[in-house]
Amino acid sequence: MSTHLETAIEAATAAGTVLRRKFRQAREVHSKGWRDIVTDADFAAQKAVLDILTTRFPRHLILSEEGQHNLDLSAPQPTWVIDPLDGTTNYARQFPAFCVSIALIHKGVLRVGVIHEPLRRETFYAEKGRGAFLKIGRDAPRRLHVSALTDFGNALIGVDWPRDPVLRQQAVEASGRVVAQCRTVRALGSAALGLAYTAAGWLDGYYHLSLQPWDMAAGALLVLEAGGTVTRPDGGAWQLADKQIVASNGLQHQKLLTALQL
Ligand code: IPD
Ligand code: CA
Ligand code: CA
Repeated sequence: MSTHLETAIEAATAAGTVLRRKFRQAREVHSKGWRDIVTDADFAAQKAVLDILTTRFPRHLILSEEGQHNLDLSAPQPTWVIDPLDGTTNYARQFPAFCVSIALIHKGVLRVGVIHEPLRRETFYAEKGRGAFLKIGRDAPRRLHVSALTDFGNALIGVDWPRDPVLRQQAVEASGRVVAQCRTVRALGSAALGLAYTAAGWLDGYYHLSLQPWDMAAGALLVLEAGGTVTRPDGGAWQLADKQIVASNGLQHQKLLTALQL
């Protein structure tokens, strides 16, 4: 395991501990915009991550959701892409589905991805070219593989809803077509967890029509390193600057794209 990955796991775990401790406490909730909130816990988790990453890697760039948004994909320095709390709406309501997501991108290539789910103490991690793994608590890590399901009629697919009304309507209509053809569709409230669960084979696919780099970076690398496929909804090559994503076990990919009709 590289120092970058080890440190990302340490930072995600530290933020996860903060989130777990605060989970049942009263929240300070502030509006960031339409259907968009931030809480005191988002900032506390971000501080826990940044305290570790900026001390260990003072020359690296930082793109963190509750900080400055200055991602330059062509920057010569490695850039950490951080979502200190993915699933804030769930967290604010004590709905237990949220995580910390940390990725490292260098010269446009995703190198490291870590998604930590603190309540279940699950850490999903991947390194470019070295596979994807899941470590639960103190158990030994196990290698992750996307599901082997070939029959779309039995597929369990994840989705989440864009905030923007026009995109949300588009997602609802596309999801109507998907759910009519697969086993069922689940809306999790955390895009990062949707991607991690696809990497783990717990979902057969996941899609979203409006995301930011910090929602997708670690999860996309996890899916790819677990043997899955990640594209745009039109089937084109996916990049971190894209706002939309379709991830799957690969075997379902064309069927999912066809059902989405986007
Ligand atoms: C949100 C979650 C949600 C998705 C939103 C994201 P946040 O992230 O990933 O599932 O539908 O688009 O913004 O705000 O909880 O970090
Ligand atoms: Ca997020
Ligand atoms: Ca967030």
